[in-house]
Parts: sequence; structure tokens; C-alpha cells
Amino acid sequence: MRAYEVRETTGLDGLHLNANRAEPVPGPGQVLVRMRAAALNYRDQGVIKGAYGYTRFPVVPMSDGAGEVVQVGPGVTQFMTGDRVAGTFFVNWIAGRIPADASKNSLGGMVDGVLAEYVLLNETGAIKIPDHLSFEEAATLPCAALTAWHAVVEAGRIKAGETIAILGTGGVACFALAFAKMHGAVVTMTSSSDDKLARVKALGVDTTVNYKTNPDWEQDVLRQTGGAGVDHIVEVGGANTLSKSMLAIRPGGAIYVIGALGGAGSIDPRMINRKSIRLQGIHVGSRDMFAAMNRAIANAHLKPVIDRVFEFKDAKAAYAYQQSGGHMGKIVVAI
Ligand SMILES: NC(=O)c1ccc[n+]([C@@H]2O[C@H](COP(=O)([O-])OP(=O)(O)OC[C@H]3O[C@@H](n4cnc5c(N)ncnc54)[C@H](OP(=O)(O)O)[C@@H]3O)[C@@H](O)[C@H]2O)c1
Repeated sequence: MRAYEVRETTGLDGLHLNANRAEPVPGPGQVLVRMRAAALNYRDQGVIKGAYGYTRFPVVPMSDGAGEVVQVGPGVTQFMTGDRVAGTFFVNWIAGRIPADASKNSLGGMVDGVLAEYVLLNETGAIKIPDHLSFEEAATLPCAALTAWHAVVEAGRIKAGETIAILGTGGVACFALAFAKMHGAVVTMTSSSDDKLARVKALGVDTTVNYKTNPDWEQDVLRQTGGAGVDHIVEVGGANTLSKSMLAIRPGGAIYVIGALGGAGSIDPRMINRKSIRLQGIHVGSRDMFAAMNRAIANAHLKPVIDRVFEFKDAKAAYAYQQSGGHMGKIVVAI
């Protein structure tokens, strides 16, 4: 079978297409999936650059993919051939609290990922995808969508009429928008691009701020809420934007700490206690959360925001396009 392999962490140079990788055979409790699509996350750029200190090479990259079960191993009870499935980001987080070793058990990190024609999954690390979604659409769910769902719905318990600020217009941000709107929230979104802000407005965003032309974006968020601040913030900027998010949040509000796109910075702990802010770390989510999210997506007939679909042979171009920052929503590779 054909599969991409990260052979060394030198960026795109270390990513190779192996046209003769052995096709895996499912063992007890495993399913073999003919992958039909994979979706890129910001994290996939870090994997090829060695940002996470992974040591097992070669590894098949990318965590997010969807396809069709073509073979089941002995003892499999939840799936049969023909089932349409996605893999779960963590192979060992099924329910409850995140396991201590979850990071070492994520697809496309230390465990082979999904940028391959055939992928072996534990049946507890696979999940059926909503019927109304194509494979390309369903491939976007395992990391970006589940992270947004975990933040906004599982941890945030967002309610109709509450206010939320979402940073950026990437994969996590566009799903956070969809889930916030599904629950009747009032949404502010920030971007470095006016064109992208116009596009998210068409998707239902209530107010927008350009954080590039207006570096004091938190003042705009305060103005938009009559000085009160927002109830929730989806924080992907990291320490560099966190101090601004702590200004833009209302007293008693919650900030979901998800990414660190803007790099490191300093934080004043007095802001956290004086405003009684809840800083909630989010690390993707469990298979149980994925099931709850899929029910909601199916019920609402929600469609993910896909920016571009690349062919399998052009997977490196998909990575390069993500590096350029030109995308809004998800970048997909059809397999
Ligand atoms: N904790 C977790 O479980 C988890 C899961 C998924 C992702 N993440 C993290 O979340 C972040 C976003 O991931 P993603 O996959 O959604 O990435 P993505 O699709 O590549 O989107 C990134 C977007 O963030 C915006 N952005 C960049 N720098 C920013 C800054 N300094 N301040 C505010 N916004 C900024 C940009 O939006 P504009 O182009 O509109 O300016 C960019 O398009 C990454 O740091 C990633 O590692 C964490």
C-alpha cells in the first residue's frame, strides 16, 4: 500500500511517500480501515519539525482521517465490514479523565496515523461517522472538532444568549463557531484577515475584530459587550494573547486554553483571582465526547468548513498551504 512516513524531523524534507509499505493485518480487537480522507491540524506541522520530541521513526503522520472498515479482527463486536468510521485522536482515552499517557498514545505522533491507504485501529479507537457527511467532511472531526466541542459544550456548558470570543479562523475556531451557534450563543471572532472575517460573518458570526490591524482587539470585545466582557473565550493564541483574553473575559468567565500560536509571554496571576477567571486546559477529548458530538452534528446536519481538498500525491502541498496561513477552516487530503 501507499503511505506517507515521517523519517526524520526536518520539516517537509523528512516526509516521504512509501509506495510499498506492507498492508497491515488486523489482530484481535482491531479493524482494518481503507482510509478515504485525512485532515490537517496545526499539530501535524509540529510533528514533522520534531516539536513534540517523538522518537519512533518512521511514523505515518496525521491524526484525523475517515474511511471504510474492510476487515475485522477476531473478537471485534462494534464494527463490521462496510462501516464508515473515523479514528479517535487518542487511542486510549475512551471516557472519564484523560489518561496520564494520552499524549504518547495519539495517532500520527508515536502511533502510526492516517495518511495511508490502509490503517489499523483498535475497535475502541474507532467511531462511526454521521451518515450525512462525506469521508472528506468526516475526516475533519477527530481533533479540531472534538477540541472545540470539549471546550464549548463539555467544559463550557454554553447556554443560549451567552457571549463567546473565538480567536482566529482556523480549524478549531470554525468548529467552535458552529457549536456556539448550535447552542444559541452570541459570537465574536478575531482574524488577521478582513476577507476571512467577512466569510465567517456569512456563517453567522455576530461581531468581528481584526487582531492584526487592531492589536488591542480585547478593547473591541469589551466595547461589543458594553464593557462587561464575554462569558467564554476559545484561546488558541497562547501566552501571548492570554493576558488580552483575561482582559476581555467577564468576571467569573471561562477561558479554554487550547493553543499557543502566538508563542510564549507572561501572565499576571492576580488577574486570575481578582476576576475569578476559570482557565480550563483542553486536550482534544475522549471517545465518549466524540460520540456525543457526532449525535449533535447528525441531528443538526452540520457541515464542517473545508477550505481546500488536495490529492494524496499532493499531501506535501497541503502541508505547505497550511504553513502559508491562507486557509479558513480545514485542509483535507483525499486518499
Ligand atoms: N489542546 C488541544 O487539544 C488542541 C487541539 C487542536 C489544536 N490545538 C492548537 O490550537 C491552535 C489552532 O489549531 P488549528 O488546528 O485550528 O490551526 P489552524 O487551522 O492552522 O488555524 C490557525 C489559525 O489561528 C489564527 N492565529 C494565528 N496566530 C494567531 C494569534 N497570534 N492570535 C490569534 N489567532 C491566531 C489564524 O487565524 P487567521 O488566519 O484568521 O488570523 C490561523 O489561521 C494551535 O496552536 C494548535 O496546536 C490544540
